[in-house]
Amino acid sequence: MDNDIIPALVQQLYLEKCLDGSRMKLLLGSEFDDDILFNRADDVRRQIYGKDVYLRGLIEFTNFCRNDCLYCGIRRNNRNASRYRLTTEEILACCKEGYSLGYRTFVLQGGEDMYYTDKNICSIVSRIKESYPDCAVTLSIGERSYESYKAYRNAGADRYLLRHETAVDSHYSKLHPAGMSLENRKRCLYYLKELGFQTGSGFMVGSPFQTLDYILADLEFLKELMPDMIGIGPFIPHRDTPFGEYKAGNLRLTLRLISVLRLMFPYALIPSTTALGTIHPLGREMGLRAGANVVMPNLSPVDVREKYALYNDKICTGEESAQCRECLEKRIDAAGYRAVTDIGNVKRI
Ligand code: SAM
Ligand code: FES
Repeated sequence: MDNDIIPALVQQLYLEKCLDGSRMKLLLGSEFDDDILFNRADDVRRQIYGKDVYLRGLIEFTNFCRNDCLYCGIRRNNRNASRYRLTTEEILACCKEGYSLGYRTFVLQGGEDMYYTDKNICSIVSRIKESYPDCAVTLSIGERSYESYKAYRNAGADRYLLRHETAVDSHYSKLHPAGMSLENRKRCLYYLKELGFQTGSGFMVGSPFQTLDYILADLEFLKELMPDMIGIGPFIPHRDTPFGEYKAGNLRLTLRLISVLRLMFPYALIPSTTALGTIHPLGREMGLRAGANVVMPNLSPVDVREKYALYNDKICTGEESAQCRECLEKRIDAAGYRAVTDIGNVKRI
């Protein structure tokens, strides 16, 4: 590989915030010193967000799901999953603990569990907002109707995370059962934007059958959507799913993609995900150095954490929230950044 090419590509991506397909493939797939890319992404992130890393308290409130995504450990057809639901009071207790630890964003994530009606979700959201008006509430509960999303927004929900998973129809059909479609996923994302949610999307790196061309399509779709938050993390197999024998996504490619996303979307809130910390003990620190600026520590009650097993060997399932906070703060510090308790809205530039 000609050593001058990579710095030139990084510079072009920095200036133009996009690269054509063949150049992007070189940047993602060729052999070079990754620091060239990581350092430039880190510069951009520091220009906009400084050393700040936003903490989001993650509450995994149900592992029931009507869907059957082939990669996911809590899919409906996994009979080995031990199912749980948190009550409103239990969710509020997580928020109380999180608030005292300094969290100012609560992310309510779960399977698509229709036990929680729109009325239930709205009541949970409004009770959190009443108790903690200085906090943001993020929902991540999958595909619902426009009317449902509207009701959540009116109840006070500020943000919504819904990864598109893959922007290629034929790939989407290989990862999801019949009845789910990329078309509907995208429709939901546009509804969320229209309703004024700070919207997050993203995809798994190294999901079964994924190619570099598919990743280019993901980047293109994100460019069209212009989300406020972009979550990517490696695919990790779960033994009780049809993809149990597939190999996990690659650390290096995930880190390169974090940097590419930072350069394409300088303003974006990009988490360094738990999945990244699962495939490498220092994965989350590496993610921050590659340009990520959010971490999402677990606030769920310790006794349910192992049950929210999307993939095997998920980290941080045994720690108390306070330990989790302390441990992450130290890690963030050691990586050269600063954990902040700010509400951490997206900086639109
Ligand atoms: N039901 C909501 C939804 O579909 O958006 C939220 C929960 S879902 C479990 C959250 C995310 O977990 C998915 O968007 C997917 O990308 C990720 N995920 C699921 N299974 C995974 C796996 N085996 N490895 C890595 N990430 C996974
Ligand atoms: Fe529904 Fe994974 S299949 S959350």
